[in-house]
Amino acid sequence: MRDASDAPWHARGPVWSQLTSMPTPPARPQRLPHAPTRGRALRTRDGACYRVRAIHPQDVPALQRAFQRLSPEQVRQRTFHRMNELSIEAATRFATVDPALGAAYVVVDAAGEIRGEARFFHDPVGGGAEFAVITDPALSGRGLGRALMRRLVDEARRRGLSHLWGTVLAQNTQMLEFSRRLGATREACLDEPGVVRVRLDLSRRLRRH
Ligand SMILES: CC(C)(COP(=O)(O)OP(=O)(O)OC[C@H]1O[C@@H](n2cnc3c(N)ncnc32)[C@H](O)[C@@H]1OP(=O)(O)O)[C@@H](O)C(=O)NCCC(=O)NCCS
Repeated sequence: MRDASDAPWHARGPVWSQLTSMPTPPARPQRLPHAPTRGRALRTRDGACYRVRAIHPQDVPALQRAFQRLSPEQVRQRTFHRMNELSIEAATRFATVDPALGAAYVVVDAAGEIRGEARFFHDPVGGGAEFAVITDPALSGRGLGRALMRRLVDEARRRGLSHLWGTVLAQNTQMLEFSRRLGATREACLDEPGVVRVRLDLSRRLRRH
C-alpha cells in the first residue's frame, strides 16, 4: 500500500502533512490525563447521546476502527490522499497532540466508538490555526460535525486565536456547504488549483443556519 508520505506535500492537506511530520512520541513532555476526559454531553436531533471530548493516546484502536468506517472518498477529502488503512503509527500521531501546537477532539458514542474527529494546528505566524474535521458517514447530517466545530471554536477562542482556516477540495461540495452554514467565507488558493480555503472569523458567533 502506498503511504501518505509518498505523496508530494502539495498533494496532501497541510494538517495531514503536519501530522505525518510530527514525532512519535511527541518531543516535548506533556501532562496528559491518565484516561480520556468525559468531555461534553451531546444529544443529536434524533435523540441519540454522544460525548465530545479531547482526543487521548488510548484512542488509537478506536481511531483505527473509525477509519475503517470511512468511505474512500471521505479519506481523500480529509487527507487529500488515498489510504486503505490507518497504521498504528499514524493513529498514534493522530491521538497524541502536543497542546502547545494544537488541539484535537473526538465525538464518541455510548459504546465508546469514535464517530467523528476534528483538530486544529496553530499557524506559526498570523494568530490563526488550520482546522480539519471528519464524521462517520453513517451519521451524516445529525449535527456531529457542527458539535465538533463548536468545540474547536471554543478552544481556539480560549487560546486567543483570531480565525480558523481549512483547505477543501473544490469538488467537496458537502464540506463547502457545511462551512458556509457555519458562517465561513471562501477564497481560492492561488498556488493550489482545485483547492478552496475556508475561513471562520472567531470574533463572530457560529452561524446557526
Ligand atoms: C463535512 C462533514 C464534516 C459534515 O459533517 P456532518 O456531521 O454531516 O455535519 P452536521 O450534521 O453537523 O451538519 C452541519 C451543517 O452542515 C449541513 N450539511 C452537512 N452535510 C451536508 C450536505 N451534504 N449538503 C448540504 N448541507 C450539509 C447540515 O445541513 C448542517 O446545517 P445546519 O446545522 O444549518 O442544519 C462530513 O460530511 C465529512 O466528514 N466529510 C468528509 C471529510 C471532509 O471533507 N473534511 C474536510 C476537510 S477539512
